[in-house]
Amino acid sequence: MQRWNVAITGFGAIGRTVAGLLLQRQARYAQCHGADVRLTAVCGSRAGLYAPDGLPGPHGPEREAMRAGLTGEEFIERTNAHVLIDAGPTDYETGGAAYGYLRSALSRGVHAIAISKGALIFDLAGLRALAAANGVALKFSGATAAALPTVDLIEHNLAGCRVLKVEGIFTATTNYVLSQMMDGVALPDAVAQAQQLGMAEPDPRFDMDGWDTACKVTLIANAALNANIALNDVERQGINQITPRDIDGWKAAGVVPKLIGEIVPGEHGVRATVTLRTYPREHPFALVGAKMKAISIQTDAMGDVVAICRTSPLATAAAALKDFEHILMKR
Ligand SMILES: NC(=O)c1ccc[n+]([C@@H]2O[C@H](COP(=O)([O-])OP(=O)(O)OC[C@H]3O[C@@H](n4cnc5c(N)ncnc54)[C@H](OP(=O)(O)O)[C@@H]3O)[C@@H](O)[C@H]2O)c1
Repeated sequence: MQRWNVAITGFGAIGRTVAGLLLQRQARYAQCHGADVRLTAVCGSRAGLYAPDGLPGPHGPEREAMRAGLTGEEFIERTNAHVLIDAGPTDYETGGAAYGYLRSALSRGVHAIAISKGALIFDLAGLRALAAANGVALKFSGATAAALPTVDLIEHNLAGCRVLKVEGIFTATTNYVLSQMMDGVALPDAVAQAQQLGMAEPDPRFDMDGWDTACKVTLIANAALNANIALNDVERQGINQITPRDIDGWKAAGVVPKLIGEIVPGEHGVRATVTLRTYPREHPFALVGAKMKAISIQTDAMGDVVAICRTSPLATAAAALKDFEHILMKR
């Protein structure tokens, strides 16, 4: 059986959920893929843990056991992983620590799975080139709306079709906040609830100002539609400006508000936007509830394909481990 050592950078809510799910699925990896999968290393910003034979299950290691300093470049150098999963913070201006982790892993021939978006926004093309040069995979379902199939859906299920338009509800926080506001909850209370549920980014302005949706739109366009757009090319609107009067007006009109990311490929490149739109109650997007996301893809030959999914930290972890299984299948 082939040995697969997995390392995780970023051991917060998502990193820990990935660790727990990976350990739960060890028997499945052996049975379905002939793979002896071990979680051998994890780290946070100041400390890490490395166990060459694998960390214990079923819930993964405790933070207290971590060794100070085993993080950053040293972590990648010393932990002999075959696959790195990054679940650290998203820094879309500099790529943050994730950029260093991903570059370091890929250049050493380690497969990489990104859940954080920052490094991919900063330099997707460079990271993909590095992966190709070293014969390893770079996957990032967790960063492109997680459990909602986006890049995989276009690349695999719609292969051969021309994509005419992609529209989606890509950010759980804004969808949750809008749904709660329509149910009479005040905006700050709805944001606080989204944070408690673990769906909001640490700084909720990232979600509320439309940046999170804009990041996903940028990544989907560049990864699946061969575009070459920057985050700042995306026309962007958020939901912070919504007033109780807007809510009353939408209720009276029988429409439902959604923050929509849209990508329209054209002759002169791709147009990408994030806008607040309203939909009649019977429209599929109007039915996408508080803890859900959705995508609708218009194609030339397969018509309109719509996917809707639940969202949760577990679903995000499962999306990253879907990437991992795809790597196992292709080895
Ligand atoms: N929450 C979701 O549903 C969701 C969905 C999709 C994608 N994501 C993405 O997943 C990522 C993680 O989210 P989260 O909710 O788990 O955040 P979190 O709970 O704040 O955890 C972030 C972790 O990253 C660690 N970290 C910070 N700087 C680091 C460094 N230089 N090296 C290694 N680790 C470092 C932190 O360690 P310390 O504690 O030591 O600072 C912490 O353990 C984010 O990028 C987010 O955008 C989240």
